[in-house]
Amino acid sequence: MIAQWSCGGLSVMLALLRHLTLSCCYGGRRSIATIISGNQTAKLVRERLKKEVDKMKTSKVIPSLLVLQVGNREDSNLYISSKMKAAAEVGIEAAHVRLPNTVTQDEVLRTIASVNEDASVHGLIVQLPLDSVNRMDVELVTNAVSPLKDVDGLSCINAGKLSRGDLNYCYIPCTPNGCMELIRQTGVSVAGKHAVVIGRSKIVGAPMHDLLLWNHATVTTCHSKTHDIAKHVGRADIVVVGAGRAEMVQGDWLKEGCVLIDCGINHVADGSKPSGKRVVGDVHFASAYQRAGFITPVPGGVGPMTVAMLMQNTVLSAQRVLTSAAV
Ligand code: GUN
Repeated sequence: MIAQWSCGGLSVMLALLRHLTLSCCYGGRRSIATIISGNQTAKLVRERLKKEVDKMKTSKVIPSLLVLQVGNREDSNLYISSKMKAAAEVGIEAAHVRLPNTVTQDEVLRTIASVNEDASVHGLIVQLPLDSVNRMDVELVTNAVSPLKDVDGLSCINAGKLSRGDLNYCYIPCTPNGCMELIRQTGVSVAGKHAVVIGRSKIVGAPMHDLLLWNHATVTTCHSKTHDIAKHVGRADIVVVGAGRAEMVQGDWLKEGCVLIDCGINHVADGSKPSGKRVVGDVHFASAYQRAGFITPVPGGVGPMTVAMLMQNTVLSAQRVLTSAAV
């Protein structure tokens, strides 16, 4: 959602109007960015999903999600509680199963196997990172989730389908899916644009690259070994940052008017706050705001969209079960 109140086609029109106005008034040079609100876009997604869930009730199917947590990390607890809250709002039945940090890998795998076999559960995610005193093979654990219930889109099967462009036959990981939704909100078309992704993690950067590519952008992925990241970023019409480095991307790196999506969540010291810290993204917001055309804030940008897309994938999974039962 752009600014405070636009949505769907309206946001496309607004973006166009804004572009024309700025081009006329400033000879093509922009002054400050339009903020893309993840909070408001996510709210619209949840409202749409609630209607879809209500419709499914006539078929006596209620989408259900199970979140499996190993250990008791404070940040994971916070993320999970926002997933539970969103599920309740949409009408998804959600359960949170927390295994102690002394659990063994085999016990985790057995739990996943039993959820895979439980037909009443449509979506299963394993909250990462795993917080265990025992050695855990994260790949083994995430791949143990049935690809049909893998609403996080982290299994090799779903990642492989996404990398080959089979977007309608996989679950797209929630953060990149949310980023795409926010890019759509700007009205800027992705096809033919030069996109730069910073970071190549399995959960953000790598699937973001694939998603932009199959939406017909020309994509460059930068990572810790890339020389002169600023040079790459300076050529990009669309920049998605999932680097995990506080305020790494500076405003003077950016091509004027670009779309800038910040997936970062970093805690930095701030003596003026009662908590002694504050949350910042991977983008230096104040300088980027002066140069980008569109920018996501942190917090309130990508974060809420990640949760909304998890709800969307869970509803999709339940719908797929319904459709296959009807065939
Ligand atoms: N930890 C942080 N973000 C995520 C996410 O999107 N999915 C899972 N499973 N774990 C996470």
